[in-house]
Amino acid sequence: MSFVITTPLYYVNDKPHLGSIYTTLICDSIARYKRLSGERVIFITGVDEHGLKIQRTASSKEVDPQIHCDEISNIFIKSWKDWDITHNKFVRTTSKKHEFIVNEFYNRVKKSNDIYMGVQKGWYCVGCEEFKDNPDNSPIHKCPIHQKTLEWKNEQNLFFRLSKYQSEIEELTNDPSFIHPKERRNEIINFVSKGLKDFSISRTNVSWGITVPDNQNHTFYVWFDALLGYVSAISLDKKHPSLLDSINNGWPADIHLIGKDILRFHAVYWPAMLLSAGMKLPNKVFGHGFLTREGQKMGKSLGNVLDPNLLLSKYGKEAVRWYLLKDISLGCDGDFQDKRFVDIINNDLANTIGNLLNRTSSMSRKWFNNRVPNNVELTNDNTLKKFSNETVQNYIKHFNSYELDLAANVILKLAINTNLYLNDKQPWSLIKDEKNICTVSSIIYNVLESTRIIGLLLLPLLPDLSSKIDMQLGSLYKKDISWNEQLYWGKLKHNSTLPAPKPIIEKLEYE
Ligand code: MSP
Repeated sequence: MSFVITTPLYYVNDKPHLGSIYTTLICDSIARYKRLSGERVIFITGVDEHGLKIQRTASSKEVDPQIHCDEISNIFIKSWKDWDITHNKFVRTTSKKHEFIVNEFYNRVKKSNDIYMGVQKGWYCVGCEEFKDNPDNSPIHKCPIHQKTLEWKNEQNLFFRLSKYQSEIEELTNDPSFIHPKERRNEIINFVSKGLKDFSISRTNVSWGITVPDNQNHTFYVWFDALLGYVSAISLDKKHPSLLDSINNGWPADIHLIGKDILRFHAVYWPAMLLSAGMKLPNKVFGHGFLTREGQKMGKSLGNVLDPNLLLSKYGKEAVRWYLLKDISLGCDGDFQDKRFVDIINNDLANTIGNLLNRTSSMSRKWFNNRVPNNVELTNDNTLKKFSNETVQNYIKHFNSYELDLAANVILKLAINTNLYLNDKQPWSLIKDEKNICTVSSIIYNVLESTRIIGLLLLPLLPDLSSKIDMQLGSLYKKDISWNEQLYWGKLKHNSTLPAPKPIIEKLEYE
């Protein structure tokens, strides 16, 4: 059994922006956490390369669409490398393997008698690649997300019989474990309760897409094509990819992590398509919030994006990861503010965690011959041990519920409390009297042990910072031993050597 997690497949109309990095970083942390917890993980990401939006982007640049797609896809691949994303699969919807799967899937759905020819009329947003209709039937001419004028379409298309799956989708969306967060589930329940309408799955005016096998002048609607990327990613057989191969190798997905803008596709259209094809449904769809800038969705079409490469070179991966994962609660929108960013990194990482490591390691080295103290007194002082054990439990509970911000916050709380413990115990005064040496040993041991656990808990969220902390404590983390077991109190070895302290994170300057 594998734990299968997916990011959306990103449109290649432009290079990645901070919004796409955001979703991918969340998945990366969850994937790292699951691996550390001993699960076999298939982490899928990739690009969505077909459709009108991409066709127009390529034509405006006067390049062949495939060349355009290759160029942007390579930028995505490079970017995921720069951000140390640990995906196992990178899907491209222009690959032969993917095309194979789309065709097979279409044939299955057709066999279920769920495809028919009809006329599609309506207002279309090319940015969303979606028909827009107002719930109250009043005219809508601008896309609320992209702020672009909608286009009127009236053409013969193939339709998928979504309406047939009304009761199954109602049951699915009513299940509290399927859509997260709760508020988003209510939006979808409301949408489904109005009655599901069949939707068109082909286009006659879009050449940049997969040709429908039995209707050569139609290409598949980009969403009908792209959603299948989650399945084609899993098929291992390159020569003869098949749905069965994907099923045998891990389908269904445990979680589709997406932005709230594309929840309907994942929580309604996609499950109905899978039901029609006789395939298992994903276990969960999590619609996270938007990153905003001045309150508006950050997006390529709106032109208000933050360049992730600039952030990366200016502040480094760990700072950006911490800000996005700790400061934004998964599911809520989050406004990116430079000053807040700098303050959070300086307070949490440099002042609280960095300082804690520095001061304890320095004290230990100075008073205990560059080592972890070994003459530890058995005391009744279990304050930190108790707090650390509670932290580990809460952290696991939060991570398992995809509350990454809360998981990050409990780590921070442990660091704050460890600093307070140190201030309260004042080992620097106690050490002045020889007879206190055992008490001081215990205090320092407790603080170092708490710091070791803080470092380990950071591993899925801030992998680089975590290994720097580990190095400063004498490289104690063992990859071949269960991570969960290493989170138990008391694993820090007495008398082990502590290397000379080096700052683990630089303070940032606000410009
Ligand atoms: N290609 C489709 C998805 C197909 S999945 C089979 C698509 N692509 S997209 O590039 O426009 O956006 C994909 C995702 O990027 C969003 O759902 C969201 O996860 C992420 N984000 C894009 N802009 C974002 C923000 N401003 N903030 C946070 N995430 C955002 O839709």
